[in-house]
Amino acid sequence: MLHPLSTASRIDEQQIRALPKAEVHVHLEGTFSLIDLLTLAKENGVPLPGPAATIFDISTHDGYTAPDVTSGGGSGAGAAGLTGFLRFLDWQCGLVRTPQQAARVAYAFAARQTAAGVRYSDVIVNPTHWNAWRGRERDLLAALAAGFDEAEQDGLCRVGIAYSLLRSQSATEAEAIVTDLTTTRPHRLVALSVDGDEKVAGRTGEKFRGAFGIAARAGLHRTVHAGESSGPDGVWDALDLLQAERIDHGVRAIEDDALLARLIDDRISLGVCPRSNVTLGIYPDWASHPIRRLVDAGVLVTLNTDDPAPLGTTLDVDWAVTADRFGFDLADMIGFAQRSIDASFADVDLKRDLTAELLTVSAALR
Ligand code: ADE
Ligand code: ZN
Repeated sequence: MLHPLSTASRIDEQQIRALPKAEVHVHLEGTFSLIDLLTLAKENGVPLPGPAATIFDISTHDGYTAPDVTSGGGSGAGAAGLTGFLRFLDWQCGLVRTPQQAARVAYAFAARQTAAGVRYSDVIVNPTHWNAWRGRERDLLAALAAGFDEAEQDGLCRVGIAYSLLRSQSATEAEAIVTDLTTTRPHRLVALSVDGDEKVAGRTGEKFRGAFGIAARAGLHRTVHAGESSGPDGVWDALDLLQAERIDHGVRAIEDDALLARLIDDRISLGVCPRSNVTLGIYPDWASHPIRRLVDAGVLVTLNTDDPAPLGTTLDVDWAVTADRFGFDLADMIGFAQRSIDASFADVDLKRDLTAELLTVSAALR
């Protein structure tokens, strides 16, 4: 359906793929395809929790528990929603146990991003989901970086890692992690992030102020999940307490005019993921999603997938669907591509090259 005020014609996915772009809000935990999961489960002798055909059925994710790293397990049935979904991510990341398996997941991510026309991606990695790596988080990061290195050598999408704290971790734990990260500087680490369910954890800005302060002082970028399952308060805290440079989601900022003004004045971009918000119940349907209103208000909005595999999508598809549902035309989509490059934590040379290429490609498409 076209936006009622639009005269735009439908944009095809081929044009979208051709636009050099970045993705800045995507979780590695949300990129395992069905074949990846089946292969990992088989390699580890872990039984599937149900029929393979229903494994990505979000409505069954409430009952998942992470498989025991020695005996397998995990079963599912129940209501949909972010909490159950995050448990499903624990289950599938629990299947990754060797450095080779981690590198394979990383390589596959870069290949899929490339197929969608993504040239650079910040990827969020939250090691608390990967239960076989508890106490060996640095080894996990090294194995993932090896997969991203191989991908880059093969000409695939370049990737930077945003290390994510889980909202339920303690201040002490978070500060110890960030101190370790800023001292050891793992290969490909570009940012500190925090994710997890805001509604369950409550306001956590004060708790993580110290950890994000350490990151900022060490020159590590900062991106914060906020304004998803809770309202604008979390976004204010991300700005005022966590020195966030970007907000992941942030869509609930639409409820607060002063916050919109702050985001615009400070040029803070929102990593918006409409399909995720609709599927996980933040908005009842696409028509209710505020992406168009945020763009029209002048907020720097980027368009992302969040967790593409379990949400059954890819970035090129979601850009096409969003253009179609909200009446964005080709010029609007070029704007999304430019903002994605600007908002990314890619190095300045790559940003400059992608911007130049976007100019050439968009001139040819118009
Ligand atoms: N981790 C993966 N997907 C997430 C989401 N949508 N919100 C918070 N944490 C997440
Ligand atoms: Zn997210």
